[in-house]
Amino acid sequence: MKVMVIGGGGREHAIIKALKKNPTVETIYCLPGNGGIAADAVCVNIGAKDIPAQVTFAKENGIDYAVVAPDDPLALGAVDALTEAGVPCFGPNKAAAIIESSKAFSKDLMKKYGIPTAAYETFTDLDAALGYIEKCDIPVVVKADGLALGKGVIIAQTRDEAREAVRSMMEDKIFGDSGNCVVVEEFLTGPEVSVLSFTDGETVVPMVSSMDHKRVGDNDTGLNTGGMGTIAPNPCYTEAIAAECMEKIFLPTIRAMKAENRTFKGCLYFGLMLTEKGPKVIEYNCRFGDPETQVVLPLLKSDLLTVMQAVTNETLAETPVEFADESACCVVMASGGYPGKYPTGFPITMKGDAAEHTYVAGAKLSDGVMVTGGGRVLGVTATAPTLKEAIEKAYSRVDNVSFEGAYYRHDIGARALRELEK
Ligand code: AMP
Ligand code: GLY
Repeated sequence: MKVMVIGGGGREHAIIKALKKNPTVETIYCLPGNGGIAADAVCVNIGAKDIPAQVTFAKENGIDYAVVAPDDPLALGAVDALTEAGVPCFGPNKAAAIIESSKAFSKDLMKKYGIPTAAYETFTDLDAALGYIEKCDIPVVVKADGLALGKGVIIAQTRDEAREAVRSMMEDKIFGDSGNCVVVEEFLTGPEVSVLSFTDGETVVPMVSSMDHKRVGDNDTGLNTGGMGTIAPNPCYTEAIAAECMEKIFLPTIRAMKAENRTFKGCLYFGLMLTEKGPKVIEYNCRFGDPETQVVLPLLKSDLLTVMQAVTNETLAETPVEFADESACCVVMASGGYPGKYPTGFPITMKGDAAEHTYVAGAKLSDGVMVTGGGRVLGVTATAPTLKEAIEKAYSRVDNVSFEGAYYRHDIGARALRELEK
């Protein structure tokens, strides 16, 4: 089989390494891929948003199956276009991808179907939003409606900050058209859990839970990033909570999307907060999380391609999906300076078995040498029987990966270990 994966980050690298395990897979193309993915797939210089070029490539190269991984092409209808061209795909169509691309849509969906989430109001009028800010509880969370590269969320600790957040989004348009509509919502507290799930629109199969580490600095300090590391499973997510989420969140969401004629097929990501009043949805993503995928897929015992095809063919109910009863850890190594400005172009070296367990996000090939090419450069991972061992193993592999100015957190998984000791 010839498989094509759209995207080019650490998540896509993890998907590709998992797909490669299927013996029927002859060639994997990655559009556009990156300098590290090039070791595992044929990288093709077609952008993740260039849907017409993706369709042409798929037809000319006899692609048997496509995986659309990032949010942008999903929101733009890559799955619709490829399916129409006769290429079976993994990922939601445009109508279903709206669950991530419009926060106003997802909030209204949850309200309509009684799915627990933070209380909120939606505004398209600046004065109305500012009026609401005068009387709401503080802190308050201000979110741009559309996709904003994970940056469209401002937690305002004061009324002034909330006014400023609303003005920056609606007046100054710091997130462009994504700020035409803003959601102002109740501030929730509690541990956060990421649950990725496979769903064919009827059946939903949660994957092993995980925990992201979004802040750049140790002990969750400093600026927010795209994610500095992950562990799985998340110890806060007990079996009882999982059962509650299935009943109150996962199944109701799948059924709600179907009822709205937006049947969701693909990977639906539930960003949850475990509040004192029970689990609540913070966000939905219409795709695999990054860097959650880098710890979830290494624990998948079943064949990824088989599960993905079952999603496409709507036979997930009859398809076993099993995860290893182990733990995983991913430590992201970033360019010094990230998430601010940083230099790139430094050669990357990996010793021992590090390369095998590393998922590359931001690297280029320069005269055949892999050099840094982005903020988050790569994620070094390990699996082991216990979380403690997985963390130790991941950090020992980190010691075998080097590039000038490499920066990483030293405490990935530390909070989860404390949770386990409780
Ligand atoms: P999102 O892009 O919606 O995932 O939001 C980014 C981060 O902001 C989340 O991972 C949470 O840590 C935080 N956040 C979002 N919404 C809320 C909320 N209602 N209450 C508290 N924290 C929130
Ligand atoms: N790690 C969060 C995300 O993929 O959006």
